[in-house]
Amino acid sequence: MHKRQVKEKVYWMGAVDWDRRLFDSLIPLPDGTTYNAYLIEGSEKTALLDTVDPPMVDVLMAHLENTSRIDFIISHHAEQDHSGSIGTVVERFPEAKVVVTPRAKTMLMDLLPIPQDKFITVADGESLSLGDKTLTFIHTPWVHWPETMVSYLAEDKILFSCDFFGSHIASSDLYVFDQGRVYEAAKRYFAEIMMPFRSVIEKNLEKLKPYDIQMIAPSHGQIYQEPAWIVEAYQDWVSNPPHNLVTFPFVSMHGSTRKMVDHLVHSLARQGVRVELFNLAVTDMGKLAISLVDAGTIVLGVPTVLAGPHPLAAYCAFLANALRPKAQHLSIVGSYGWGGKTVEILAGMIPNLKVEVLEPVLCKGVPTDQDLAALDRLADSIAQKHREKAFHK
Ligand code: FEO
Repeated sequence: MHKRQVKEKVYWMGAVDWDRRLFDSLIPLPDGTTYNAYLIEGSEKTALLDTVDPPMVDVLMAHLENTSRIDFIISHHAEQDHSGSIGTVVERFPEAKVVVTPRAKTMLMDLLPIPQDKFITVADGESLSLGDKTLTFIHTPWVHWPETMVSYLAEDKILFSCDFFGSHIASSDLYVFDQGRVYEAAKRYFAEIMMPFRSVIEKNLEKLKPYDIQMIAPSHGQIYQEPAWIVEAYQDWVSNPPHNLVTFPFVSMHGSTRKMVDHLVHSLARQGVRVELFNLAVTDMGKLAISLVDAGTIVLGVPTVLAGPHPLAAYCAFLANALRPKAQHLSIVGSYGWGGKTVEILAGMIPNLKVEVLEPVLCKGVPTDQDLAALDRLADSIAQKHREKAFHK
């Protein structure tokens, strides 16, 4: 893929990673990803905005083959998929200064062998003139690390947002083509790396309101030519109350927990509560993370193994605790053989979740009629709480 013009003297300089299927050795990328860098050629100065993941640095350097000078490398975010090739760019363009937030300077000095005098730090709201083009830097912590910022190019009304509003989709499209597909990918991305920082992200969205943003150019995925919908989606994810939805991850070994799960799903549906069910033995954890963005209640279906929770359920609890979804209730259902401390162990694994714990339903072996009746009571309780709190949709 060659460099591509976005606006007059503004170019996409990215790399498309069609094959990548995992990020941070954790996050599934079913559709690959892109690492977007951008070049702005002002009448007096030239700026490169971010770089690419180091394994794809040759793609970026090929884009830069006919570039004679770079005055500034704007580094919005210290994570290596955007900053990791700065060293190579600096070697080729030794005149370039690296423009960062003060926090990013210390982080980049820890991560990359870049000398201290190569950095210029910028304050929140500070502008940098490239001649006939002007970049304004807006500090936006926690999208996705504490040092992150975005840039606004006033003359072209473009927001360069780095991870903020990004989506992991490898594509030959420069611009968003299929909004529905990008919505899901962007929600997956938000869920996996930004959901824990909702309150800060809400403030960041507020900070963007004074700017007339007609295009958002993220560092993953495609460029938004109509950015209003993705900003509204973020507003929903961070600010709105949860939905009338139970996110229900489960694992079953011999079918007893599965019987309980199926009964509870049926009972909840009868009460008008939506359920998204995830069998942890086969599920894409990214899909589960997407569901957690909206969940009003989480129910974990878990059999007891060796006196504790099945390890897949423990992994799920650990992940949910890290992602800190806005769910307000949680319960546990499952079957055991002779005893154990499944509920106590799981309860100790979720200190970050601000949830009311609803009476768990555990049964010995195959669920009896009494156990199924207890599940019906749990469904009643969930439905009533969702109604009382007027969770939407
Ligand atoms: Fe795309 Fe947080 O890096």
